[in-house]
Amino acid sequence: MTLAKFVDELPIVEVLKPNGMIGGVPFYNIRMQQFKQKLHRDLPETTVWGFEGNYPGPAIEVNKNQWIRVKWVNDLPSKHLLPVDTTVHGAEADKPRVRTVVHLHGGVVRPDSDGYPDAWFTKGYKEVGPDFTRKIYDYPNRQRGTTLWYHAHAIGITRLNVYAGLAGPYIIRDPLEECLNLPKGCYEILLLIQDRSFNNDGSLYYPDEPDPPVPGVYPSVVPDFFGDNILVNGKVWPYLEVEPRKYRFRIINGSNSRFYRMKLSSGQPFYQIGTDGGLLDTPIITKQILLAPAERADVIIDFSNFMSHNIVLTNDAPSPFPRGNPADPNTEGQIMQFRVSLPLISRDLSIIPYRLSLIIPLKEKEARLERNLTLVRRTDKYGRAFLLLNDETWDDPITIKPQLGSIEVWNLINLANSTHPIHIHLVNFQILDRQSFDVEHYEETGEILTTAPAVPPELNERGWKDTVRANPGEITRIIMRFVPYTGLYPWHCHILEHEDHEMMRPYEIVNYIP
Ligand code: C2O
Ligand code: CU
Ligand code: CU
Repeated sequence: MTLAKFVDELPIVEVLKPNGMIGGVPFYNIRMQQFKQKLHRDLPETTVWGFEGNYPGPAIEVNKNQWIRVKWVNDLPSKHLLPVDTTVHGAEADKPRVRTVVHLHGGVVRPDSDGYPDAWFTKGYKEVGPDFTRKIYDYPNRQRGTTLWYHAHAIGITRLNVYAGLAGPYIIRDPLEECLNLPKGCYEILLLIQDRSFNNDGSLYYPDEPDPPVPGVYPSVVPDFFGDNILVNGKVWPYLEVEPRKYRFRIINGSNSRFYRMKLSSGQPFYQIGTDGGLLDTPIITKQILLAPAERADVIIDFSNFMSHNIVLTNDAPSPFPRGNPADPNTEGQIMQFRVSLPLISRDLSIIPYRLSLIIPLKEKEARLERNLTLVRRTDKYGRAFLLLNDETWDDPITIKPQLGSIEVWNLINLANSTHPIHIHLVNFQILDRQSFDVEHYEETGEILTTAPAVPPELNERGWKDTVRANPGEITRIIMRFVPYTGLYPWHCHILEHEDHEMMRPYEIVNYIP
């Protein structure tokens, strides 16, 4: 039985206040905890994990250049909520089941504040990962204003920790944005979208093995997972009452595997103003927005001409994307509802400016080098299909060592059958183009034979990105400059089931290359 839609109001994510100041820097003490929360009117309370008693976690909001410090505290019970597969790298039976470390996705931070997958810790730091673990993380916020998100990142169990609820939004505000006169205050709303499935008692359902099961492995990681209930800000299919005017929505896809291809049932367009790395240079008018896991879209929706309409935010992305099962219009095909039912309190003076920001393109000819990196499907020693980056596993020696300050082009050559959202820590990149190639020919000869001209990125991808969709049978080319820190960072597929099962690699930014 499916739960009734649009019976719960959309929760507005609370903004967390710092606990105090340390040496002139705002300090936050943020506990990860287990608690019960009501996720739908007709569902018994669900045991979830979250931050400071909230699922999803509260919003951290800062001004650009405002340094903050966060102590992420593991206050979770010793038993995991979900089935831990001990055959997955980093989650072996001798490791504690409940381990966490928090990563600020899209954040420009030093390696020891980045939430390296091996830098996990248990309650009270009783046990820590092989990596040096710093207790207090520094976030300088010296980067473009945008919507980031923080989430659990411990090696081998990220999919379970995030599914249990360990994720929340993080907003960097650029004071210059104020001059743009975009909708703000209660007309600026954050939407964190996630899919979940439930057992009848209201508990979270997550598969303990794939179908068919893997002989000799229980519980086992699954190739991907798609919940059939869509939650926004922690409620299943919520509604939001709005005034007939413009609103700004900061949308985050915080799902494990699910892509969303969003439309408005009224047929009206979105005005997309920003992406992962902040504002675009000019707004894009589009009837459809596609978001892979971890991608963000900053959009304006104008409800002015829709008084008394109920508008549904729909989704028609197949799972897995793009060649999988079509979205069921009765379940995952719907995300939330906007009810244009509130009286207009005052005239809407906000605007959608033609010039939003300045985006200077990185030039290919300035690249120090270009790397060919494959996304490839293999079979692990238990016979399970899994995916690798450049045919290497997490533990293999580091092969990517960009020089600090240098520009590189990465060619993501997808030999697999579905789209992988590839995320690189620390840097923001630009998408150069995508080009189809002959996969079979490549597998036989190792040569790239392109089959169509390269196409530029979509209009709404022509800004700064930290996660890019690498489509099957295509070479997706991205360009970035490796600044401002040296050290070890991961890059990975953001389908969390893939990330946990070896589709993640370290890279190291180095000072000097002889
Ligand atoms: Cu959002 Cu390494 O991840
Ligand atoms: Cu990240
Ligand atoms: Cu993937």
